Amino acid sequence: MSLIKNTENLILKAVNELGYELDNVTLEKCTMKNLGQYQVNFAMGLAKKYSKNPRDIATKIMNAIKNDFKDVNIAGPGFINLTFKDEDLINNAVGDFSNHIDYEKPKKIIVDYGGANAAKALHVGHMRAANIGEAIKRLCVLFGNDVIGDVHLGDIGRQAGMLISQLKLEQPDLPWFDPNFDGEYPKVNLTAADLGRMYPEASIAAKESEERMEEVRQITAEIDKGKNKAYLNLWKQMVNISSVSIKEVYKKLNCTFDLWEGEMDALNYVPQVLEILKPYLYESNGALVMDVQKDDDKTEIPPLMVIKSDGATIYGTRDLGTIYSRMERFNPDEILYVVDQRQGMYFEQVIRGSYISGLVPPTTKLEFLGFGTMNGSDGKPFKTRDGGVMQLNDLINMIYVEIEKKIKPEINGEERKQIAEKLAIATLKYSDLLPYRRTDYNFDPVKFSSLEGKTGPYILYGNVRMKSLLSKVENKDYKIKLIPNEDVMDVLVKISELSKVLKRAYDEFAINYITDYLYELIQAFNKFYNNNNILNEQDEDIKETYIALVKSVYSISEKLLDVLAIEEVEKM
Ligand code: ARG
Repeated sequence: MSLIKNTENLILKAVNELGYELDNVTLEKCTMKNLGQYQVNFAMGLAKKYSKNPRDIATKIMNAIKNDFKDVNIAGPGFINLTFKDEDLINNAVGDFSNHIDYEKPKKIIVDYGGANAAKALHVGHMRAANIGEAIKRLCVLFGNDVIGDVHLGDIGRQAGMLISQLKLEQPDLPWFDPNFDGEYPKVNLTAADLGRMYPEASIAAKESEERMEEVRQITAEIDKGKNKAYLNLWKQMVNISSVSIKEVYKKLNCTFDLWEGEMDALNYVPQVLEILKPYLYESNGALVMDVQKDDDKTEIPPLMVIKSDGATIYGTRDLGTIYSRMERFNPDEILYVVDQRQGMYFEQVIRGSYISGLVPPTTKLEFLGFGTMNGSDGKPFKTRDGGVMQLNDLINMIYVEIEKKIKPEINGEERKQIAEKLAIATLKYSDLLPYRRTDYNFDPVKFSSLEGKTGPYILYGNVRMKSLLSKVENKDYKIKLIPNEDVMDVLVKISELSKVLKRAYDEFAINYITDYLYELIQAFNKFYNNNNILNEQDEDIKETYIALVKSVYSISEKLLDVLAIEEVEKM
């Protein structure tokens, strides 16, 4: 258990023993540093409840707990300020990382994130899903849960019809286009680059010719209905080819998925879904829909469409099928959707439909974790100069150019390139995880790459400093023996804040608490580092203390970077 949680329990017990009813105690950071490190503010509430003088109550509590702290004092109407004993702060800082985590009953959680679309380039929105989703997944793992990450590949849609029609045009003699072929289909001879060329070509052609568009629609519908074996075989192969390059991009972002499933897999469960939804479905303009509006809704929630008027499934049908499959196979406690918040209404419909129909029992929580958009300097969703969707690889390159300039001149050649690549990803990821996830933010490669302020490079530079210092000392067990100055104290207090930061981030699925904290921790470390000549310290106990402190901070920053899925560099 964390120092903070432990202390909260201790105070709660003392208060209850004094005869006051209180459900929980929350330690807050002390607003005035000279008065204490933390404060508790419940004495005023208790005073009201028991019609007593708040300072009297505060004094009683102070007397009951003062032996457990270095200092307890009362300020204003009854704020109780607390200063930890040095040994408590020290033990908290050197203990195992798990001491900073206040565990709860472990759950089985599926995180649905990524959401790339097969045979299409990943764009900025997919990057946000990947970064935020991966961090949320890792945070859930950190809290001891059994977590499954699923990419939910968008592998049904126009792109299938586009690519197949294009291939048919280019190589009409292939067996997939021969209606009389009844052997085993061979391996299709296409690369991801071929698909990347063919898709835009088909797309332009289909825009220009209604006839071509009709063909595209037809092929897409045939795949969706699972009717045409040739097209299904061909499309599955194309999905696999493009998955290889999609996985490469995810790998760059340090994202790995436990399940690489997609909308096509969900088609297998559509009959079961329709059976469960049957009592709720009705016809509307030829389509099958389901009402999800509730009496107390303040806004209109339109019906959820389940089957289109042409009999085909739709995005939502595939999400329902996926839910069915996940419930059957994993019976999770939670399914978390990390998706662009512009899909919020859609997920509201799907989630409501799932509960209303009984597809999902009330004991399983479906939660939509929406995120905002990354905008250009004009405040609009980030576009290329000619107005197209910004591709992820281009974005990474823009950051690369900026960050490469910041690397020390003596690092060159292949090493320089590799460090710049890692830094570019770290820069992008840190600034993507910095704002609260629902907040939109502006892409600013110069600001993001700065060595000062809340940036990836600032964090990694601090981390490099720690590593470099630790590489110069003998590898042995160092102890924090005393608290020789305020710089050390500030770092120790900062470390004590970690458990609350992690808990908040986990409770709200808000990674920004961690990115912010990491900045504050490195800032406190840098002040300590700049003010003290660590390796030349003459007093042996103080020197050992300094080194032990660097080790502690390093191990925390290492762990937090890992949650953020940001890779460290050795130098920069
Ligand atoms: N492929 C979708 C898109 O690009 C995102 C998928 C999100 N996840 C889900 N279960 N619907 O918009």
